[in-house]
Amino acid sequence: MTTASAEPIDSLQGGGRVFPPSESFRRDAVAGPELAETASRDRLAFWAEQARALQWQRPFSEVLDWTDAPHARWFADGRLNVAVNCVDRHVLAGDGERVALHWEGEPGDTRTITYSELLGEVSRAANLLADLGVQPGDRVAVYLPMIPEAVIAMLAIARIGAVHSVVFGGFSAESLRARIDDAGAVLVITADGGWRKGSVAPLKPAVDAALALPGEQTVRNVLVVRRGENAVDWSEGRDLWWHEEIAAMDTTHEARAFEAEHPLFILYTSGTTGKPKGILHTSGGYLTQAAFTHRSVFDLKPEQDVYWCTADVGWITGHSYVVYGPLANGATQVLYEGTPDSPDPGRWWSIVERYGVTILYTAPTAIRSFMKAGRAIPDAHDLTSLRLLGSVGEPINPEAWLWYREVIGGGRTPIVDTWWQTETGAIMVSPLPGVTAAKPGAAQTPIPGIGIAVLDESGEPVPAGGGGLLVVTEPWPAMARTIWNDPERFRETYWSTFPGRYFAGDGARLDGDGDLWLLGRVDDVMNVSGHRLSTAEIESALVAHPAVAEAAVVGAADEATGQAIVAFVILRTGAELTDADASPTLRAHVAERIGPIARPARVHVVAELPKTRSGKIMRRLLRDLAEGREVGDTTTLADTGVMRTIQTGMHAD
Ligand code: WT7
Repeated sequence: MTTASAEPIDSLQGGGRVFPPSESFRRDAVAGPELAETASRDRLAFWAEQARALQWQRPFSEVLDWTDAPHARWFADGRLNVAVNCVDRHVLAGDGERVALHWEGEPGDTRTITYSELLGEVSRAANLLADLGVQPGDRVAVYLPMIPEAVIAMLAIARIGAVHSVVFGGFSAESLRARIDDAGAVLVITADGGWRKGSVAPLKPAVDAALALPGEQTVRNVLVVRRGENAVDWSEGRDLWWHEEIAAMDTTHEARAFEAEHPLFILYTSGTTGKPKGILHTSGGYLTQAAFTHRSVFDLKPEQDVYWCTADVGWITGHSYVVYGPLANGATQVLYEGTPDSPDPGRWWSIVERYGVTILYTAPTAIRSFMKAGRAIPDAHDLTSLRLLGSVGEPINPEAWLWYREVIGGGRTPIVDTWWQTETGAIMVSPLPGVTAAKPGAAQTPIPGIGIAVLDESGEPVPAGGGGLLVVTEPWPAMARTIWNDPERFRETYWSTFPGRYFAGDGARLDGDGDLWLLGRVDDVMNVSGHRLSTAEIESALVAHPAVAEAAVVGAADEATGQAIVAFVILRTGAELTDADASPTLRAHVAERIGPIARPARVHVVAELPKTRSGKIMRRLLRDLAEGREVGDTTTLADTGVMRTIQTGMHAD
């Protein structure tokens, strides 16, 4: 573990500009200043009040049970149905005609789905899953493009008390299979393909390949949504077309309630070892915090707002801020299938204009790529409907923050920079638009009801102006309950660095006002375009190639993607791969093994790797090389000449 770099705080302060809280934003009990006060007076009572905003079939009497720490139980004796809260509740309240989803496919086809229609679709899908023998507690893998069926499938799975494991479509067959096996999924819901960059990217073949890999597996059926209309192989008896099966189903489904701690989903995320972690989230606490943060951080007015979160449902942002948070709040939202530049670089802005998007939530990497393409593109669209902008996934640099506000937000819109993680389930640190004076580049303040501290390595809080490690000091409703199949790893990874407190893996600083500035990961986890990737996982993919003897992977600072994956490999003697072929071959190999999102930006063939006397690779030195910096302290290396050898090799590369 390395501590976050000690940059002077002034360089982080976005030129010292502060934007006062916007008067036109909510300052009431939903998102106003008194919230923090109520929460600090009695944290548990505050969360209980937020939980009561949901519909419970049996009310809870106990708020938090922390006796089996770090495995929390929130609202444990209450019972609810998550899907009923996200759909039926709004229909029963008379809002059935409100649009839930404005969906737009990449080729330009559209679907508008009201809450009443969503109820019918989710009910049919729930009936189908039950018909296929899916039982409460069973796991269902979802491997879909951004089409309405992704949302419908997730809600239907939740409705019958099964557990979804959504796998991002950019993961390979092998990654998909590893996730299917770890979760023991009985069903996979996929599509023939989805539209990306102007053509159909097939998905079903990856499912076929995943299930054909050797070893026992648990999948009985594959349910296939027809979207790309690309030709697919068919396994009779196993494969079923979604549209054919669903047509026979009843549009009503009586939902039963499940315990608040009933598992809702598993979502795999990269850690410091090669094996992804199955983060488990449960029902009542998760939904409470997803819904609360969605309405307070985004100042949501469900009757007026058109909300658009650009994340894919394959990530936690898509779970909490496309599916559960917005739908629990009865929001109207946009769902878009494709890439931002299809068919032209103005696609996002034409969507904002067409649907009158009022709240936009996206990642800094997207903002930086728009910045690079120039303001003429967004300027060609009417973006005046926007009233609030959000950022998530990585630190947002002040330049990108200011550009986002000025060019996309017309200089009017507050920006909420939201810090959280797959494990936290929902937003933990963010300004509140009507309350917080915003500093470009800072996530600033824990949301009400959340305890955050910045500690030094001995566990002492750092003073204002100091930097250290971010921890969460108290259990929170949406916290991960465990790592699927590996409770020991859960305890070890998050709760052993500072016993009793949750160690997030991020470095942070407190400025003179006590505001938080997130500084990125302090472990061997990389953040590439807001996607979390493990150096160890990519290294093991590289050494699985017959030509590779050893590999070391680092995340090097990159202007566009935040970090870029840079690999250093030693080839086997006699390997049938020339130095010149190595880079393209190995980049393709990683994309094939893990998925295109893990493809290294650069692969350097080297003769040696820098190691300590105990044989540990010193990634810090490789990062220096990859970032073109003077190589740091090499005194702990077993062979101090090694860096020179590597550097010489790199230049020749
Ligand atoms: C890691 C979590 C949260 C949903 C998307 C990513 C980084 C996230 C911010 C932010 C600085 C951020 C952290 C964190 N991160 N948001 N606003 N400012 N860093 O979820 O894949 O679980 O990754 O993303 O390093 O640990 P994830």
